[in-house]
Parts: sequence; C-alpha cells; structure tokens
Amino acid sequence: MSSFAESTVLIVGLGMIGGSVARGLKQRNPHQQILAVDTDQQQLDLATEQGIIEQGSLTVKEFAAQADVIVIAVPTLAIGQILVALEGTLKPGAVITDVASVKEAVMTQAQAKLGDSKSRFVPSHPIAGSEKSGFGAASGDLFANRKVIITPEPYMDADAIQTVHQLWRRLGADVLGMTVRRHDDVLAATSHLPHLLSYALVDVLVKSKRNEDIFRYAAGGFADFSRLASSDPTMWADIFVANSRATTAVLDEYIEHLQLLRKALVNKEHGFLKTTFTQAKAARDSFVQKIFNPMAEPTAQESRLLDYVVAPGGQVTGDIRVPGDKSISHRAVIFGSLARGVTEVSGFLEGEDALNTLDAFREMGVTIVGPEDGKLTIYGVGREGLQAPRKPLYMGNSGTAMRLLAGLLAAQPFPSQLTGDESLLTRPMQRIADPLGDMGARVDTARGGTPPLTITGTRLHGIDYEMPMASAQVKSCLLFAAMYVEGETRIREPAPCRDHTERMLKGFGYPVETNSATGEVIISGGHELTASDIDIPSDISSAAFFMVAAAISPGSKLLLRHVGVNPTRTGIITLLELMGADIQLSNTHEVGGEPVADILVQHAPLRGIEVPRELIPLAIGEFPALFIAAACAEGTTRLRGAEELRVKESDRLQAMANGLDVLGIKNTLVADGIDIVGGAIGGGEVDSAGDHRIAMAFTIAALRSSAAITIGNCSNVATSFPGFVPLANKVGVAVQIHDQTDSGAD
Ligand code: S3P
Repeated sequence: MSSFAESTVLIVGLGMIGGSVARGLKQRNPHQQILAVDTDQQQLDLATEQGIIEQGSLTVKEFAAQADVIVIAVPTLAIGQILVALEGTLKPGAVITDVASVKEAVMTQAQAKLGDSKSRFVPSHPIAGSEKSGFGAASGDLFANRKVIITPEPYMDADAIQTVHQLWRRLGADVLGMTVRRHDDVLAATSHLPHLLSYALVDVLVKSKRNEDIFRYAAGGFADFSRLASSDPTMWADIFVANSRATTAVLDEYIEHLQLLRKALVNKEHGFLKTTFTQAKAARDSFVQKIFNPMAEPTAQESRLLDYVVAPGGQVTGDIRVPGDKSISHRAVIFGSLARGVTEVSGFLEGEDALNTLDAFREMGVTIVGPEDGKLTIYGVGREGLQAPRKPLYMGNSGTAMRLLAGLLAAQPFPSQLTGDESLLTRPMQRIADPLGDMGARVDTARGGTPPLTITGTRLHGIDYEMPMASAQVKSCLLFAAMYVEGETRIREPAPCRDHTERMLKGFGYPVETNSATGEVIISGGHELTASDIDIPSDISSAAFFMVAAAISPGSKLLLRHVGVNPTRTGIITLLELMGADIQLSNTHEVGGEPVADILVQHAPLRGIEVPRELIPLAIGEFPALFIAAACAEGTTRLRGAEELRVKESDRLQAMANGLDVLGIKNTLVADGIDIVGGAIGGGEVDSAGDHRIAMAFTIAALRSSAAITIGNCSNVATSFPGFVPLANKVGVAVQIHDQTDSGAD
C-alpha cells in the first residue's frame, strides 16, 4: 500500500461506529475508496446513495481480497466468524483492526483464527459512541478529539501498527497504547460497569410494583443515569460475556462499597456519606475539567493549589527507591520514538513532565503502550517517521522537554509549535534559538526570547559551536538537530554537564565521538537509531532530598536503592561529602550504559563550604536541597558562578533566599550565588514559587526546624516526584497536603 489516502478501506459492520469511520474518512478525503459489508442491505444502500461508500455487500468474502485496511465493527462475539471469513482471502499486506470494547477476547480470536496474518491485526478501541446505534447515528466527527486505545504487541508488524495509528489520527483522534489486560480492566471500570448498573437500575424499576407511574416522574437523575440502558442489548451482552473476568472483579468492589453505603444509610451516618460524596465530587469535577475541556492544558494536578504542612523534627530511616530519572525518561521517549524497532522501557518516571513528552510523541504519530508500573513499549517510527503535530505541543513545566524537542523539530519537514505552563513561558530560549539559527533553522520565540516557540522545520547544516554555558539541555538540543544535517557538528561545553544524550546515542547504535579532555562532542547526520531496551535508574535529583534529609537529622540512616550515579550527576554526593556527610555507595554496577548504586546516608555534623565552581553543572538541579544542608551546617556555605539557578523552574536563588529568610537563616544573595550561614531553623510559611524542587527542599528543612513549616504552591512536585509525600512520610518526615483549591486561597 503506497499511502493511506490511496488505500481501499473495508468496513465490516456499517453501524454507528463503522459508519462513523466511513463518513469520517470520506469527509476528510473524498477520493478514499471505501467498501462496506453489513447484514442490512438498506444501510448499505443508504451509505452508497450518500456517496459514503463505493459499494456494499452482504458477504465479507466478496470484498476481502480488495481491501488494504479492514475495520471490523461488529458486536464483539461476532468478530471470530468474520476473521474466519477473512483468513485465506486477504490481500497480501492487508491490515486489520476492530473497534470492540473488549480486547483480550478479540486477541484470542485473532491468534486462533488468523494464522500468519495475525501479525497484521492490530486491535483498537475508540472511546466514542453513544446509546444510539445504526448507520443513521453515524457522524464523521465522532472520533475528533476523542481517545482511541490500540493494543499492539511486539509480534505485530510495525507498518500495520502505524497504519492503524494513522487511520484514527486521520479521524481526529488521540491514539493511546495500552496492554490488553489493562485495557480490559480500565474499560470494565469506566464503561462496562456503568452500563451494567444502568441496565440494572431500569430493570429493578420495571420489575418493581411501584413501576406503573414511576417513569412519568423520572426526569433528572433517572434520565441521566438510565441513558446507557438505551444502548444496543446484543452489543452489551457480548461485551459482558467477553469481559466477564474484569467486570466481575470491579462489580464485586462496587457491591462491597454499596454495602458500606447501605450501612451508613441505615445508621444515618451523615458524616460518612458527606465525606464519600465530597471525595467523589472532587474526583469527578477535576476529571470533567481535564477530559471534557481539552483546551485547558494544565492537568488536574497543576490546576490545584496544594500546600504542604510539615511538622517539625524527626529523623529518617528505611530502605527506599525513588522514582525514575527525569532526564533519562524524556530521552527514552525521544530515542524510542525515533528508533527502528520496539523499545521496552522500565523505571519510567510517571511525572507530569515526562508524561507531556510522551503525549507529544503520541501526537506525532508514535504508538506508545503505557506507562504501566513504569513500563513503556515504544513502537519506533524511525528517524524520518514523525508526523506533523496537529496542535501546539504542550511541554508543561519542562525546559528540558522544550529545548530537546526544539532541536529535533527544527530539522523535521513540517512546522510545529512548542508551548508550556506559566513558568516555562518565562524561560530563556535564545540559548537554543541562536545556535539552531546558525544551523539554518527557523525557531521564533516570543518577544524577550521566551516560549512559545514557532518552528518552521527545514534542512540544516552542521556547525562548530562553543557553548557559552555548561547546559546539557542546549547540548542535547543541538545533538538532536545534528542527527539530521549533512556533515559534521562539533559542540564544545565549557565544563562537563550531564551526558545522557551521548550515552543513549551510543546505546541506540548512533555514532558519536566524545572527548572528555576537550569537552567536545562530534556527530554526523544521517545515521539510523536501532531500538534498545532502557532500564531507567532512580533519579539522583529526587534522591538528593532524602540524602540531605538523612544527613541533617540526628539518628537518621537511610538506604536509597538503584540510584543513577552517572559522574555528570553526582555533584551532590561530592558536595555533601565535602561538608562532612556520611555517604556510602554499594552495589555499583552499570544498567543500560548508566552507572547505578545503592546509597546509604547516615547523619553526621555538616560544615559550611565554598562550592567548587566545576561542581555546579554536576549538581545543577540539587542546589535547593543543598541550601538546606547549608542551613544546617556549621559556618558559611558560599556559592558563586551559579547564575543559571536564576532561570530554572523559578529563580531558585531568590526563591530559596526568601524561604531561608522566613525560617530565620541568615543569607546574602548576590547576582550569581548566595552565602548561607548555618543556624537554628524556625517555622513559618514559605512560598515554593511553584517550583517542585523548592517545595521539596523546604519540606525536608522541617526535620531540623523548631516549629511547623508550611510551604505554599506545591502541586508542581508532581512534575518530577509523584508519590513524594507518602514516601517522605514513610521514612519519617511528617508532611501533610492541604488542598487550598476550593478554599478561596489565591
Ligand atoms: C537537564 C539538564 C539541566 C537540569 C535539568 C535537566 C537535562 O539543565 O537542570 O533539570 O535533562 O538535560 P541545564 O543543562 O540546562 O542546566
């Protein structure tokens, strides 16, 4: 098949979903050849008359050999017989998908009935539809801005996966990947159970003695709740039979919950009812805002106003693993997407920043399954395989994502836009726009050199570039662009900074020369990336908060497992050791080209130091945590040459100085650094300035404070460290979340 636009699409089952696929494809491309099979001749005639399909038939066999893409849109339990009819008559290279709401049963059928063609069957499930059925209810825009889940497996052909992805993308959908089991579990809870309950409620009322005139008064709640009971009975009986395992499991949970509510009703427990309803309302409200208002970019987390209240004192003990490395997580998605083949990722950070990167690549046509328990399966599209994004790509809070993607996008044959949250929209982008411009790129910033970025996408040429600052983001941005240029690019860094991109290039088989003596990286364009599995270590930048926590609080002993200790990241360990901290590394080994170790930190008295300048880039994300160590140290800690801290997620020098002032820690701020004099830490209210690392730094400060510390504006902790609060509590930091969203706080 040359291109989707020239392919012949066969729709088997011209009901509401099948009809909507046909209408949508025809609407977007009047030349698309569409054939349809249905048991109802009238529907076929109607679709032919309306010019939606070229021809209709009552039998699958008639058209099977002509179709390049086949969409099976019949009730779940009828799919098996369609597959039997197709097998043996398929056109070579034909791609098959379905639209069923249950995937395990369909996969089993496909594997049993499709023989060799099973690698070209890629299941899908559009999360769209209504209680209506039939071709008459079909709409060409049914899938626009809706989610379609596909459940690919590594044994399936890459081009078949891409074709199915493209089909839904053409119809305006956002395509997500999921494992079969997770799909069935999620759908059981969010779709199947609600239908069962709706049918059940109507059925109870129908059979009840009170039913004679009850429907007459049944507006409002009943009308809403019973809408689903108007759905197609055959289709839904099929779904429940096919997904019996998962629906039974969630139904049991529901019954248990109903029993609790029943007890509360009998006992007139107003408090219990109110709490249950309040939690449910909050969850539903934020869901509505997130799902039904796709223009509102901030996620539910970001839009909430969360404060942390931390009780004073304590010590930290235990054996923990912090979430995956953020820098490596972003890069894993980028490399996996651009590679040929399937990349399996484990340890992926399920924080908002990395999730936004993942969404961006999905938007550019990459099929990614997960994350599920930190695992991703990325079906790479190859270095030339990205599709033009249909909307500006939202990078949330992440400067890394924006800068790395800018380099990559500058070299693509399509235009794109990159945008982000309030903080990101203030961050400097000239540092990448300038050298990319030298390479021939067109990257337009807003006035002042800040995002949003408008990227034209063009052919680039190599450059020889002396970076003015030691920034891994700038270096990586240029490396991604350089993969697409003719000839060589040379980049020199003024001091060593994180080298994950270079390591991953090598891991994916892309030639790159690195010279640690000169700080030079040399790369030529035009090579392929080959898929390679990635095991992401825990993020040393997240571990840093717990390292400092243990170092400053008497009686502490904390083991942090499987932490990434790449030498371009371990500045925090060196600095804490210079201050007198007791840190021991063990079990050091290499995982996928990155060194990892278990880190044991025990309390020891700290002393102030002068921070060696060469360590700054190696600890660039860890200064907020380090400033807390400095506040607990004897004497003064002096930092100079760290002006970069002023342009991170917040002005970190200023934000930390403000907070230290509140807590009574003497400090002197200068343009490129700070002096911090260790002393007694008081309590009070500090502002995180919406910066995740400032929020976490002041949280651990409470271990040594004389009174509680309240930290404002902490929702962005979710960008890098989901689960920070429970983990902090687990090891001994008494922190509570106060949700100020609905309290009128501003
Ligand atoms: C990062 C590099 C650092 C760091 C950021 C992540 C990366 O920025 O602060 O959080 O993943 O490349 P700079 O290298 O620009 O200082």
